[in-house]
Amino acid sequence: MGAGPSGLAACKTLADHGVDYTAYEAGERVGGQWVLDNSSGTSVAYRSLAVNTHKGMCCYSDFPLPDHYPGFPSHEQMADYFDNYAKHFDLYPRIRCGTRVEQAEPRPQGGYALELGGGERVEHDALVVASGNLWDPQWPALDGDFDGPLIHARDYMDPADPVDCRGKNVLVMGLGNTACELAVELSEPGAAARLLLSARSGQNFVPKIEAPVPHPSEPLSGLLAWLPKGMRDAAFRQLFPRVTKPIRALYPAPESVGLPPPPEDFFEKRFVMNNDLFERIEAGAISPRPGVRKMLGDRVEFEDGSQDPVDIIVAATGYRFTLPFLRDEILGCAPPDLELFRGVMHPQRQDLFVIGVMKAICSIWPRSEQQMAFIAPLLAGDYALPSQAEIERESYPILGVPFGNCQFYTADLRRELERGRRRAGRGK
Ligand SMILES: Cc1cc2nc3c(=O)[nH]c(=O)nc-3n(C[C@H](O)[C@H](O)[C@H](O)COP(=O)(O)OP(=O)(O)OC[C@H]3O[C@@H](n4cnc5c(N)ncnc54)[C@H](O)[C@@H]3O)c2cc1C
Ligand SMILES: NC(=O)c1ccc[n+]([C@@H]2O[C@H](COP(=O)([O-])OP(=O)(O)OC[C@H]3O[C@@H](n4cnc5c(N)ncnc54)[C@H](OP(=O)(O)O)[C@@H]3O)[C@@H](O)[C@H]2O)c1
Repeated sequence: MGAGPSGLAACKTLADHGVDYTAYEAGERVGGQWVLDNSSGTSVAYRSLAVNTHKGMCCYSDFPLPDHYPGFPSHEQMADYFDNYAKHFDLYPRIRCGTRVEQAEPRPQGGYALELGGGERVEHDALVVASGNLWDPQWPALDGDFDGPLIHARDYMDPADPVDCRGKNVLVMGLGNTACELAVELSEPGAAARLLLSARSGQNFVPKIEAPVPHPSEPLSGLLAWLPKGMRDAAFRQLFPRVTKPIRALYPAPESVGLPPPPEDFFEKRFVMNNDLFERIEAGAISPRPGVRKMLGDRVEFEDGSQDPVDIIVAATGYRFTLPFLRDEILGCAPPDLELFRGVMHPQRQDLFVIGVMKAICSIWPRSEQQMAFIAPLLAGDYALPSQAEIERESYPILGVPFGNCQFYTADLRRELERGRRRAGRGK
């Protein structure tokens, strides 16, 4: 369910494996986040949004982005790309657009009964959830009262929409990719009169450049293909921060411009890619501030005791992972704590899969495509699961792990797929 970038990968891959499916998409269009103002209400895109993953890495393995696209295509170009993917592989006949899944209840014999918007009920033998995890706003808890408008980045469109920030004192909260992009946009001439950027903790910054990140579909080669998993992963954690050091050194240390120091563990948070933030701070167009302590009507007090007049607050404080159509009792936990076998299958429910939710150093939908290359043979009966003990041993929290290497993840999925094919008697 869901026909965003991950759901489309699911449709295509299930069709390739001859698995019968129907996709339910709440919006009128496919493309999820990348459809500005998506009628599903789950797109948080703003008018200036472009991908920050280079076009060489943010495409499906068998459908490149058009040659005439720039290195970092806009949301409109990405939405067209997803639409063209669905047309090219003839996915539309199986996608029911404008159809929200309201509730999913397990059936006694396995599979799920779905209640759709409008009250219709349908039944399916398995559920692949591709509903996205970046649409339900995480609001900051703020002490005190604030007189002006407080919006979440989810609703932000441009400096004049949905609130007119032009000529105002604007505070952007957060230091993720969204906060940094909105701070840069709102600090442009003609936008906010004054732009404060409040960060309660630090980030690692990497310039937005054409980085040679392998596509998740590329098999590992050379030594990487042979190293034992533990050694390979440890080597990556050691080497990646060192290899990226020269490009990170293109920026000054965050502390030197008034931002909090970056986390010691490079893999703790998704790093921020922004080519303009430091320049704007150094030019005085953006004023960094520590975390917010208290609202004082038309002023805000920060953790260092300083106060500033503020007219509008934009909370770019991220998103919660929720699955409103699946009760926590069905999942056995609240969604952010979800542990999945190999990052895709519920360990106690072999008919429930979640894709596209992960902490990963790569683009999301190519990785979802690789997750489906594992799930589809399982659903087609070409892959047999290991013992329940192994399923539980190989289950881990999808959001509770440090950011990982997508190519390694895919290689491990492929290896497990081969094992499961042998178990199913299907050879390689
Ligand atoms: C501002 C922003 C920028 C980003 N930039 C990048 C980037 O540059 N590169 C990158 O790889 N990733 C990026 N991401 C991550 C983003 O998650 C992916 O871009 C991508 O959209 C994920 O695809 P998805 O299909 O998993 O989720 P979504 O794009 O969120 O799609 C989910 C789909 O499910 C549908 N849906 C939800 N609930 C239901 C329901 N109950 N019933 C039926 N349908 C439902 C929605 O309508 C939607 O179409 C960005 C995210 C954000 C927020
Ligand atoms: N152009 C692009 O491609 C683009 C643009 C924007 C976003 N994105 C992607 O979209 C996803 C979401 O990004 P995001 O920036 O919206 O969210 P995010 O990465 O989760 O960052 C949220 C930020 O808000 C802070 N925060 C959270 N709760 C807070 C609170 N209560 N008070 C103060 N600060 C709080 C966090 O601080 P802590 O770290 O201390 O929790 C963090 O700095 C990411 O994957 C990102 O890469 C991509």
